[in-house]
Amino acid sequence: MEKPPKWYDAHLDEYRKVAYINSRAQYDEMYRQSLENPDAFWGPLAKEYLSWYRDWDRVLDYDFVEGRIEWFGGGKLNASYNCLDRHLEDKADKVAYYFEGDDPGMSRSVTYRELYEEVNKVAAWLVAQGIKKGDRVVIYLPMIIQLPVAMLACARIGAIHSVVFGGFSAESLASRIEDSHPRILITSDGGFRAGKVVSLKKNADEALKLSEWEVEKVLVYRHAGNGVEWDAGREVWWHEAIAQDGLPDYVEPEPMDAEDPLFILYTSGSTGKPKGVLHTTAGYLLYGAVSTRWVFDIKDDEVFWCTADIGWVTGHTYIVYGPLTCGLTTVLFEGVPSYPAYDRFWAVVEKYKVAKFYTAPTAIRAIAREGDELAHKHDTSCLKLLGTVGEPINPEAWRWYYHHIGRDWCPIMDTWWQTETGGHMITPLPAVAPIKPGSCSFPFFGVEPVVLDADTGRPVEFANQEGALFIKKPWPGMARTVYGDHERFKETYFSKMPGMYFTGDGAKQDEDGYWWIIGRIDDVINVSGHRLGTAEIESALVLHEDVAEAAVVGFPHALKGQGIYAFVSVKPNIATTEALKKDLVALVRKEIGPIATPDLIQWADALPKTRSGKIMRRLLSKIAAGAVTDPEAVEKGVLGDVSTITDPEVLRPLILGRLSLNS
Ligand code: PRX
Repeated sequence: MEKPPKWYDAHLDEYRKVAYINSRAQYDEMYRQSLENPDAFWGPLAKEYLSWYRDWDRVLDYDFVEGRIEWFGGGKLNASYNCLDRHLEDKADKVAYYFEGDDPGMSRSVTYRELYEEVNKVAAWLVAQGIKKGDRVVIYLPMIIQLPVAMLACARIGAIHSVVFGGFSAESLASRIEDSHPRILITSDGGFRAGKVVSLKKNADEALKLSEWEVEKVLVYRHAGNGVEWDAGREVWWHEAIAQDGLPDYVEPEPMDAEDPLFILYTSGSTGKPKGVLHTTAGYLLYGAVSTRWVFDIKDDEVFWCTADIGWVTGHTYIVYGPLTCGLTTVLFEGVPSYPAYDRFWAVVEKYKVAKFYTAPTAIRAIAREGDELAHKHDTSCLKLLGTVGEPINPEAWRWYYHHIGRDWCPIMDTWWQTETGGHMITPLPAVAPIKPGSCSFPFFGVEPVVLDADTGRPVEFANQEGALFIKKPWPGMARTVYGDHERFKETYFSKMPGMYFTGDGAKQDEDGYWWIIGRIDDVINVSGHRLGTAEIESALVLHEDVAEAAVVGFPHALKGQGIYAFVSVKPNIATTEALKKDLVALVRKEIGPIATPDLIQWADALPKTRSGKIMRRLLSKIAAGAVTDPEAVEKGVLGDVSTITDPEVLRPLILGRLSLNS
């Protein structure tokens, strides 16, 4: 069999004729400028990409030791104006969104003018409730047009939105409400998912009961038509709210400082409860817009589709703020890749003539598993570029995507970034250099990554040497704080190596200078491209009265990338039954949501701990991965240094227990 080429460049010649950035030399020069003189690099782009009420006084001012970052200080602008009003002149009738429902029969296109009108109505209703700049609004909606409408209505009046993914449970929603203290909650009766109704309003009701914080009003969009309980004192139907007499059709956008907050988005960390990552206005908007344009090399007449849910950062940046700032047409899809069948993505690509398509490796693996025929049922020759995000893509999935979807031609943008980074950080650009499957290629502009040796804290010296990934300088899209807890922001991102941003990922750079992300090196696992803190899942498990202790680690999972593996110790005299396992799974789903469902639960008499009582996850990860099969592993030194463990004997039953779970 012929060996696959080391890298892929079939598209390069053609892309070089059309791309915004069309050679390695151009990229190198721009990259150098972006690091040496960020003011001269980002200043002109901020003029080109954004409309301002007032120019900034200085482009960048920062202190990475304190975690203080300011871009375009003194400037004033409004995100909703940038996404809508200014496009009315020449793009009023251009489609902003093709909405494609879960049900293939349910679709609708929404122009920039229509989006603008709806946003103004909702903004007017918010104003009528007394909502003003700086107030928080929590949004818990399915993937429908009203989700970006609600976000942009908040942005228009300067309210800070906090979107909570519709797949999160009532408990998760409640904890986010308690943390951000919103005045308004926006939700819907329900959403559709693979033909079934998901009762969002019911979850929202439950969350409001659980939460000690009282919201003033709940705005409810009627979408699924499922029955809901109703509290007339507090709840308002969306269609009635915006039809209210005397509500103006136009709300003046609030001129926001460049550094005024735009949104909060919760994400999991290695400790404690999820943190509210806060993004501000100008830098985030600019970074989202520029990366949308250049990474996907999108032209004005092309259709873009990012399949993420807007409840995650990918949807915030690449379905809402990036594309709308650029005035592009994108697809907004409510459904799942498997419904009605596993060819759904390609049916939608064909229907809207999607040119640039962005999805997650986990979706590709799930689709590829169903066979190649489905991929070829539709004419997807409109596709010119593909993207992935969320986790490292394995070579099999990469090749399947490249061959069956990309017709051995479309470049694949493997974009590495995070909730905290606001936009792409390390990513290929389609006309710059050949692509290596599994590598994110090179840093985006303004991003200066460095790999530090975990033991010495110094930059690694050799190609392919792995270490912890840090970023040396600020880029416009980065988060500015953790909502209400700047100390946590400093501690999490700027204390590991003072003066640098810590990513939480391991990485390496190869002999050709290409970057490779190895995966998280903190206690965060990445399930189907979604971040979950092991501590969160453990906290849910120990809520059960029969559980004494729990330790959760990730393990390799063919479909999800990483699966969730829980070691659980029960209290004395409690039987370790299948029924108890089921209860524990149900408990985690209730506390966090279905995405946190443990894949495997193993009973443990005891857990390996250090003398200070810290669970030794490194050892548990090896056992969970099935990498240790020899019960004598401790004696033979297979598990590495176990000298800090209080009682190495606890490992033998865990190894045996893992083996029996396999059978
Ligand atoms: O571990 C990295 C992984 O996802 C983490 C960020 O997760 P989240 O904040 O939920 O944002 C996901 C969407 C931007 C990172 O720390 N990750 C993300 N993209 C990639 C990736 N790992 C490898 N390759 C990627 N392309």
